[in-house]
Amino acid sequence: MAGARGLLAAAALLGFLQASSSFEVKDSSGKVCIIADLTVAFSVEYKSNGQKEFAHFFLPQNATVESQSSCGNGNKSHPILVLGFGAGHSLSLNFSEHADNYQVEELVFHYNLSDATLFHNSTAGEVKKVSHKTTIQAHMGTKYRCINAKHVNMKSVNITFSNVTLEAYLTNGTFSTNKTECAEDMVSTTAIVPTTPKQTTSQVPTTSPAPTASPPNPAVGKYNVTGPNGTCVLAYMGLQLNITYQKKDQKMGLDLLNFIPQNTTSSGRCDNTSAFLNLTFEKTRVIFYFVLNASTEKYFLQGVNVSTTLPSEAKDPKFEAWNNSMSELRATVGNSYKCSAEENLQVTDKALVNVFNVQIQVFKIDGDKFGAGKRFIFWGRT
Ligand SMILES: *[C@@H]1O[C@H](CO)[C@@H](O)[C@H](O)[C@H]1NC(C)=O
Ligand SMILES: *[C@@H]1O[C@H](CO)[C@@H](O)[C@H](O)[C@H]1NC(C)=O
Ligand SMILES: *[C@@H]1O[C@H](CO)[C@@H](O)[C@H](O)[C@H]1NC(C)=O
Ligand SMILES: *[C@@H]1O[C@H](CO)[C@@H](O)[C@H](O)[C@H]1NC(C)=O
Ligand SMILES: *[C@@H]1O[C@H](CO)[C@@H](O)[C@H](O)[C@H]1NC(C)=O
Ligand SMILES: *[C@@H]1O[C@H](CO)[C@@H](O)[C@H](O)[C@H]1NC(C)=O
Ligand SMILES: *[C@@H]1O[C@H](CO)[C@@H](O)[C@H](O)[C@H]1NC(C)=O
Ligand SMILES: *[C@@H]1O[C@H](CO)[C@@H](O)[C@H](O)[C@H]1NC(C)=O
Ligand SMILES: *[C@@H]1O[C@H](CO)[C@@H](O)[C@H](O)[C@H]1NC(C)=O
Ligand SMILES: *[C@@H]1O[C@H](CO)[C@@H](O)[C@H](O)[C@H]1NC(C)=O
Ligand SMILES: *[C@@H]1O[C@H](CO)[C@@H](O)[C@H](O)[C@H]1NC(C)=O
Ligand SMILES: *[C@@H]1O[C@H](CO)[C@@H](O)[C@H](O)[C@H]1NC(C)=O
Repeated sequence: MAGARGLLAAAALLGFLQASSSFEVKDSSGKVCIIADLTVAFSVEYKSNGQKEFAHFFLPQNATVESQSSCGNGNKSHPILVLGFGAGHSLSLNFSEHADNYQVEELVFHYNLSDATLFHNSTAGEVKKVSHKTTIQAHMGTKYRCINAKHVNMKSVNITFSNVTLEAYLTNGTFSTNKTECAEDMVSTTAIVPTTPKQTTSQVPTTSPAPTASPPNPAVGKYNVTGPNGTCVLAYMGLQLNITYQKKDQKMGLDLLNFIPQNTTSSGRCDNTSAFLNLTFEKTRVIFYFVLNASTEKYFLQGVNVSTTLPSEAKDPKFEAWNNSMSELRATVGNSYKCSAEENLQVTDKALVNVFNVQIQVFKIDGDKFGAGKRFIFWGRT
């Protein structure tokens, strides 16, 4: 817990609010063979008057698909997506196929140190190149999906991908419906991956929104509950707790905690008209209580219970809060509730449960997949 809290305590972290951008490569007949929808964050170390400096920036949304991009030509050449941006920077994704899989075989990043907007006071002025193999891999005929951060660390450059949907060797001009999910998104994996890009704001990225005091968004986890008739709760969300508490010195403290999906266990139970989703992350537990109104065929979140152990400076480290008269996340049976913006669920005046990128379905779930009818709500945070 110290890890997650410590990270948040250093509140000068950049919220990961950068929108994804979508890029396409077409062959000479206009057929789309690569689509990539992704957020890319860069961290580059360079020298400035003998000092080590770091530049942090995102792949801008107006990056362009460069002419070196190609769909490949049989065995002679492989598909490649080259994205150019700023003053002579480019990121290449070189694809290859093997058996039933395709992968980003190599990632190549060219950066121009003479670009003073990114590399303030850089001593060197040349264009540098780094490259690395990646573990971005998917089954042929499926799209690759990875919401969580994937880091590629190279000498002097770290590249972090997130919210990625991409597919190469497309035959149909659009993303396949079937997908290959990355290990980072699988709740069951035991591998611990950093869930937030660690970015300090000592140098404000010129290509991203102005940093805010908000902590990084929590990683999206997948949680489910099995009832008598199969899956009865299926939830996809990032979860953050915001607790206001009194300290021993009578001052007020704020505890912001991001749930780490890999370290969160889900349990719960369902009957015909009520469902519990019980999420436990270390010493913190959040229970969501859903009810079904059988006559209107609608379900909603009626109750939330939060219990946690606060930092030792708290007057009372044992914290519990609940609210059983809520009316949130409403949807019709057979459909899912979806919201890509942050939602703040007010439990009490001391406790907020913030959910991010939520998609949730309760009670009737056909084939363990979200139903078609979705409710979208968007509102900005910026
Ligand atoms: C992921 O990208 C989609 C668009 O491709 C966007 O709507 C969504 O908000 C992004 N999610 C996050 C967590 O950035
Ligand atoms: C891309 O957007 C940035 C600001 O976000 C702007 O400074 C730059 O000129 C744009 N580049 C192109 C090629 O439009
Ligand atoms: C491509 O390579 C595969 C095996 O590596 C071979 O079977 C196939 O004939 C090659 N195709 C062409 C067009 O060279
Ligand atoms: C660049 O160098 C000048 C003089 O050496 C210094 O005043 C300035 O703060 C430096 N700028 C950055 C962004 O480091
Ligand atoms: C997509 O998934 C469905 C159901 O899992 C399967 O029947 C179908 O063969 C898959 N298609 C591809 C191209 O893998
Ligand atoms: C890359 O990540 C590693 C491990 O987190 C860190 O030690 C290193 O300083 C980072 N490098 C850059 C250029 O951000
Ligand atoms: C191609 O797309 C159409 C609709 O866009 C879909 O019905 C069809 O199943 C797709 N074919 C493949 C091979 O994915
Ligand atoms: C969630 O689904 C997985 C795979 O279907 C299953 O193994 C697991 O037991 C489920 N978890 C709960 C709490 O029902
Ligand atoms: C946390 O809660 C406090 C008090 O309700 C509020 O002022 C603050 O904006 C909240 N922060 C986040 C990140 O939700
Ligand atoms: C997740 O759990 C593992 C093993 O229980 C632990 O080693 C790791 O520190 C935890 N990660 C975080 C970020 O709390
Ligand atoms: C919630 O889960 C925790 C640990 O997994 C367990 O101790 C607790 O009894 C559960 N509560 C409910 C209501 O399922
Ligand atoms: C399970 O299915 C049976 C038969 O369709 C139904 O009568 C029962 O109410 C269902 N139970 C739950 C908890 O959904």
